[in-house]
Amino acid sequence: MAYHPIRELPIRALAAEVLLAVESGESLSQALPRAQQDIDPDLRPQLQALCYGVCRWFHRLDGELGQRLRKPLRKQDRNVHLLMLVALFQLRYSHNPSYAILNETVEACRALGKSPLTGLVNGVLRAAEREGEPDSDIPVVRFSHPQWMIAKLQHNWPDQWQAILEANNTQAPMTLRVNGRHGSRDQYLQRLADSGLEARATAFAPWGIQLANPVAVDRLPGFAEGDVSVQDEAAQLCTRWLQPQAGQRILDACAAPGGKTCAILEACDNQAEVIAIDQSADRLPRIQENLDRLQLSATLKEADAGDTSSWWDGEPFDRILLDVPCSATGVIRRHPDIKLLRRETDITPLAGIQLGLLEQLWATLKPGGRLLYATCSVFPQENSRIIQRFLDKEPQAQLLSEDAPWGSDTGYGRQLLPAPDSHDGFFYACLIKGSDTPDQDNRP
Ligand SMILES: C[S@@+](CC[C@H](N)C(=O)[O-])C[C@H]1O[C@@H](n2cnc3c(N)ncnc32)[C@H](O)[C@@H]1O
Repeated sequence: MAYHPIRELPIRALAAEVLLAVESGESLSQALPRAQQDIDPDLRPQLQALCYGVCRWFHRLDGELGQRLRKPLRKQDRNVHLLMLVALFQLRYSHNPSYAILNETVEACRALGKSPLTGLVNGVLRAAEREGEPDSDIPVVRFSHPQWMIAKLQHNWPDQWQAILEANNTQAPMTLRVNGRHGSRDQYLQRLADSGLEARATAFAPWGIQLANPVAVDRLPGFAEGDVSVQDEAAQLCTRWLQPQAGQRILDACAAPGGKTCAILEACDNQAEVIAIDQSADRLPRIQENLDRLQLSATLKEADAGDTSSWWDGEPFDRILLDVPCSATGVIRRHPDIKLLRRETDITPLAGIQLGLLEQLWATLKPGGRLLYATCSVFPQENSRIIQRFLDKEPQAQLLSEDAPWGSDTGYGRQLLPAPDSHDGFFYACLIKGSDTPDQDNRP
């Protein structure tokens, strides 16, 4: 269903319309900016907080609303159902006075053209306010995740599934990567302190800084000049595995928006020949924007990386980063709409694409070179099992299995799980192509 922003809608009604777009398969990062461009800039953070909050707590709020409605609303009144979730979210998770939430939600219902439902909305929300949130031991409601995800995590992570679900419901920290070409991490920490921004160095990534509270990027000293970028700590670790060196020919196969492309170039002082590919024409310009801001250079190509005949000149690469498209289940706390968008049936086709990309790109790696396979997924089906299946078929491939202080060794790569107040969920497997002259330093 196409979503058309309606300028004059109150903020809660607009949130309900954005959520309707998400239910029809659009991501928040697609639907929200479109709605935001039509409203007063001062209201944008509020709209964003409502949409993200409802997605994060969708299954819990929906469980409560389901109990409170005697029968489900008609399909064409779905926006009113979502509007009530917005109001329930505010009742349960905000400090807004409840009379204001109720009044404004009834107003919003009218603005959506659903005046006949205002009595129902008012009655349901009044009861919700009076009675408080009901207890539930249904896992979907308790953990606020879809049933299939809970079951898959229980199966994959018998000891950690609950911690993963709980971490997914927390607010992710804002983490920075200091551009070492412009100054040291300690110097940047001092600049943050001088600007009144509380922060600390990350535990594992050498250029990482975690802010105590998120801020708009234009409040970060030297952001426009390229002194720093926003990037999660787990994502920053890519250079620890890849060990890019000046003078090398490096492929970033699934590169947009270019966070890791830029980390790689910073790590080798912009002295490598980097080719960054993405098949999305819409996302490719984001890589160039990041390169420009950081004064870095790479060759960008719009292509299906797996279709090597369409873009490869036959010159092999010393390093390949393969940050494949995945379920993104390691970054749910940053993208809570994944709970609504992802389907269980997505995972097997994704795994097919991931293994296919790995097999195709392996041919473009130099003997002795290294390929880093990465996902932001927590499902072994997209991670260790891909590497296992690949190693079974490819005798020349060796898995680098050095110890590292982060994540855990799956036997086929290292898995980081999302950690509250720390890094995202991520997976890395570093493969070396057998040769007589392997790289000397294999440590991550
Ligand atoms: C996980 S994101 C990459 C994030 C990026 N590496 C970063 O750190 O900023 C995956 C990207 O792969 C791209 N993609 C998906 N399939 C692809 C393919 N067959 N060839 C090239 N790019 C592809 C998507 O458009 C998406 O931008």
